[in-house]
Amino acid sequence: MKRERVLSGMQASGKLHLGNLVGALKNWVSLQDAYDCFYFVADWHALTTGYANPSSIKESTTDLLINFIAAGLDPDKSTIFIQSMVPQHAELHLLLSMITPVGWLERVPTYKEKQEQLQDRDLSTYGFLGYPVLQTADIVIYRAKYVPVGVDQLPHLEISREIARRFNYLYREVFPEPEGLLTEFPKVVGLDGRKMSKSYDNAIYLSDTPEVVEQKIRTMMTDPARKRRTDKGDPELSPVYQLHKIFSSKEEQEEVAQGCRTAGIGCIDCKKVLIRNVFHYLAPLWEKRNELVSNPKMLFDIARKGSEKAKAETEETMKIVREIMGLS
Ligand code: TRP
Repeated sequence: MKRERVLSGMQASGKLHLGNLVGALKNWVSLQDAYDCFYFVADWHALTTGYANPSSIKESTTDLLINFIAAGLDPDKSTIFIQSMVPQHAELHLLLSMITPVGWLERVPTYKEKQEQLQDRDLSTYGFLGYPVLQTADIVIYRAKYVPVGVDQLPHLEISREIARRFNYLYREVFPEPEGLLTEFPKVVGLDGRKMSKSYDNAIYLSDTPEVVEQKIRTMMTDPARKRRTDKGDPELSPVYQLHKIFSSKEEQEEVAQGCRTAGIGCIDCKKVLIRNVFHYLAPLWEKRNELVSNPKMLFDIARKGSEKAKAETEETMKIVREIMGLS
C-alpha cells in the first residue's frame, strides 16, 4: 500500500536548540516509518526576513542539515533536501503568485505581527508578503497530505489550503488541500523560564558542547524565593524543574521536588541530576554530530541525493502545472 505523504521544512535562520528538537524534529523522526516523508531546509524563506544579511544563511543551512541527520532522520527512509537545490519550488511559487489575491496575503496574521516584531528591518517587500505563497508551493508541489507544524504555522497552512483550492477551481483538481499534523509536545522552557527561543537568548543549542550545556544548566534560574541553601522552595516556580519533567524519570522528579520543598537538597544537586539526564538524552545526537561535522562530504552527498529525488518528484507535478497554464 502506498504510504501517505508528509512534508515539512524549517527556515534556515539561526541554530537549532533543544526546544526545536523536542518539539519538532523528534516528531519528524517518528513519522518516518509510517509515512512517505519529505523534510527540507527552507533557505529561501530565510531571505524573506534576512535578505540584508545573507552571510549567515549557509551556516544555518549546514547546522539544520547536520541536526536533521543527527536527530535521527534517515536519508534511506525520508527525502531530505535543501529548498534552493530544487528550483521547481521557485517556478511553482511564481505561477501560484499569479492566482493569489494580495488581500489574502495581507490578512495572514503573521504578516503584520512579524513586521511589528522586527522593526529593525524593512519588511514591506514583495518577497516577505509572498512568504506563504512560497510555503504553499513547497507543500503542494509534492501533493503532500500532512504537514507536521506547530500551532504558530496554522495560519500559513490555512492560506495554503485556500490557494490550492483556488488552483483546483480555476483549472482542475491537481493539489490535495494539505492538513496540519499537530502533536502534543511538552513545552521546553529556556534558561530563564520563558519559552526557549533564540530571540530570548535563553537557549541550549544542539551545537553547544557538553561543557557549555553543563555551564548553562548550572547557571539556570531556579525558584527566586530560594536564596539560601536552607530556604524551602516551590519546584513549580523553577525552570529547572520544568526541564526535569521532560528529561527525568518520575522517581527523580518526585525526589527533586520533595528535596526542593523541604530544602533537603540544594539547587546544584537538583541541577546535577538534570545535567546527567540531558547529557543522556543528547549523547547519541552529539556522537552523530561529531561524525558529520568532520565529514562535510557525507553531508553534502545526503543533500545532493535528497535534492535529486525531490527534483524528480516535483518535475512530475510541474509537467501537469505547465501544461494546464499554457506553458508546455
Ligand atoms: N515557515 C516554516 C518555518 O518557519 C518553514 C517552512 C517553509 C515550512 N516551507 C514550509 C514548513 C512548508 C512546513 C511546510 O520554519
